[in-house]
Amino acid sequence: MKILAIMGSPRKKGNTYNVTRIVEESMKKFENIEFEYVFLKDLDLKSCLGCGVCLDKGEELCPLNDDRSMLEDKMHNADGVIFTSPTYMFNVTGLMKNFIDRFAYACHRPRFFKNAMVLTTSGAGIGTKMMLKSFKMALLSWGFDVVESLDIITNGDSTSKLSTPKHKANKKINYATRKLYKAIQKGKPNPSILGMSMFQFAKKEINKLNPEYYDFVYYNNQGWLKDNTYYYYDSETNFVKKTVSKLFSNFIGLLSF
Ligand SMILES: Cc1cc2nc3c(=O)[nH]c(=O)nc-3n(C[C@H](O)[C@H](O)[C@H](O)COP(=O)(O)O)c2cc1C
Repeated sequence: MKILAIMGSPRKKGNTYNVTRIVEESMKKFENIEFEYVFLKDLDLKSCLGCGVCLDKGEELCPLNDDRSMLEDKMHNADGVIFTSPTYMFNVTGLMKNFIDRFAYACHRPRFFKNAMVLTTSGAGIGTKMMLKSFKMALLSWGFDVVESLDIITNGDSTSKLSTPKHKANKKINYATRKLYKAIQKGKPNPSILGMSMFQFAKKEINKLNPEYYDFVYYNNQGWLKDNTYYYYDSETNFVKKTVSKLFSNFIGLLSF
């Protein structure tokens, strides 16, 4: 099993790294897992220019030539991905936000249908709920199934041990790790009703587009616009889930996230 950890802290060996290392050790108790760290701080990932070319015309036409496609390959090649960032001002760090923005095209054209986990450390737990919600939402929109959000309070002191009491931190880490490991073992995630409803909502909206539009072509090429599709891939979903999600998809546009 291959796990990729995408590290969003500007401090390479800080609290977030320390917690991720514990996750690694905990996962390795299950089997001999290949664990790779990618530090956004070390990559050439330029700031999004906001031109929108990736959204409208395709990511291959992005004017920035840097490590973005290497990162995409790494996410495709992993069995599971752990996205980490300390909480900065109730949000992810600038490094992680730029990473998310650079992959905005995957929100239009989802592609990572695999299990993931988000992990944050914070000084006092202030704003972490808000941070994790939007962090998770971005990844869901790319196709990831975020099976767990891990949230550890460190007291802002890089030299101290975890200040979520150690036994509680270990319990949380072990629980999250087990959940991620089991989910990856099962294979492709079984979609939730919300995920299926969102797919059907998107399908309806894409179907209204000019067939020459990039998103239309992408959906069409994947076979997602056919009548009998309920999700991005075939899954063992029962009749009830299919019917409820189809009904619910009519109201998705009314929801505010
Ligand atoms: C610029 C900055 C903003 C921060 N904002 C928050 C915050 O909003 N809420 C919080 O609880 N901690 C906040 N912290 C504390 C960090 O989240 C905490 O120290 C974290 O464990 C640092 O992780 P690192 O060592 O991996 O960089 C902030 C720290 C910095 C430097």
